[in-house]
Amino acid sequence: MTVTVGNPIFDKLGMKYPIVEGGMTWAGTGALAAAVSEAGGLGFIGTGYWHGDDVRREVRRAKELTDKPFGVNVMLMSRHIREVFDVILEEGVKVVATGAGDPSPFLEELHAAGVTVMPVVPSVSLARMMERKGVDAVIAEGMESGGHIGQMTTMAMVPQIVDAVSIPVIAAGGIGDGRGVAAALALGASGVQMGTRFLATPESEVHPNFKQKILKAKDIDTVITGNIAGSRARVLKNKMAKEYIKQEINEIQKPAPDYETVEKLESGTLRRAVQEGDKDGGAFMAGQISGLIHEEQPVAELLAEIWDQATKILNIENTTK
Ligand SMILES: Cc1cc2nc3c(=O)[nH]c(=O)nc-3n(C[C@H](O)[C@H](O)[C@H](O)COP(=O)(O)O)c2cc1C
Repeated sequence: MTVTVGNPIFDKLGMKYPIVEGGMTWAGTGALAAAVSEAGGLGFIGTGYWHGDDVRREVRRAKELTDKPFGVNVMLMSRHIREVFDVILEEGVKVVATGAGDPSPFLEELHAAGVTVMPVVPSVSLARMMERKGVDAVIAEGMESGGHIGQMTTMAMVPQIVDAVSIPVIAAGGIGDGRGVAAALALGASGVQMGTRFLATPESEVHPNFKQKILKAKDIDTVITGNIAGSRARVLKNKMAKEYIKQEINEIQKPAPDYETVEKLESGTLRRAVQEGDKDGGAFMAGQISGLIHEEQPVAELLAEIWDQATKILNIENTTK
């Protein structure tokens, strides 16, 4: 079997492993992003609905901790998006991942500044559209993922996107060890993105309650909220998730909540999980892979172990040793 390990983008960024830490709002801090990049992966700072100043603070924290490139993940529907892009350009960030929208209005200026742009896509049609608009790679994220999700699974979607586009495809969703990485590369991805796995590391700054919930989770301990509001997110089961789903069912006849209600419901609850560890009221966004994670592991050790396992399965040389 031949697999493509890495891609020209990862080579340009000088990455040791074809492994990305997906941007995670509140949870993907500058410190975590720096730890992943420093260890040879590519870390992303998650920015969600943040103002430019918050983004600048985390970018500067990351720069203090590593000289290696790292990325910023932006939520295009944020109303602060212009100031976020201004900070990205002023601070010389090298890679941008985008979610919740079409990044093409910003592509020209980002490319002019040498920034690599990789949107997260949930389907073949969106992957094709992004390629036509000129992005550099796509992140094909399946609904096993933590956080906001589409409808397709990673296993079914990745090979279809690989067949449909000629830019690099990074597989995300449900990957937590070397077996998952090997599977994604076998499906034709040229790299992987993990989110949940990186939350259970000493470098992750999420509240200890969040880490404990991941470490204790079983395979079926996540649920999807926002099915009706149209903002589907995978979270670990708790009181908040149960009430959200109950409220959605009750409100099925009413019009979908407006932008501000959704922003308040989601941004606030995720922050309460990440920073306060609010067991009942927080949205503990985490993927189905939580059930595979049993211990906290330092980022550098985790990346080396995952890549060692993947290369053994694929029977390819581990050139990082
Ligand atoms: C707590 C949390 C917050 C997330 N926030 C974002 C986000 O702001 N933007 C984004 O594109 N993806 C976000 N994600 C998705 C991750 O970047 C990544 O694609 C996903 O976690 C991969 O699936 P996994 O959780 O199975 O590893 C988030 C995931 C988690 C767990």
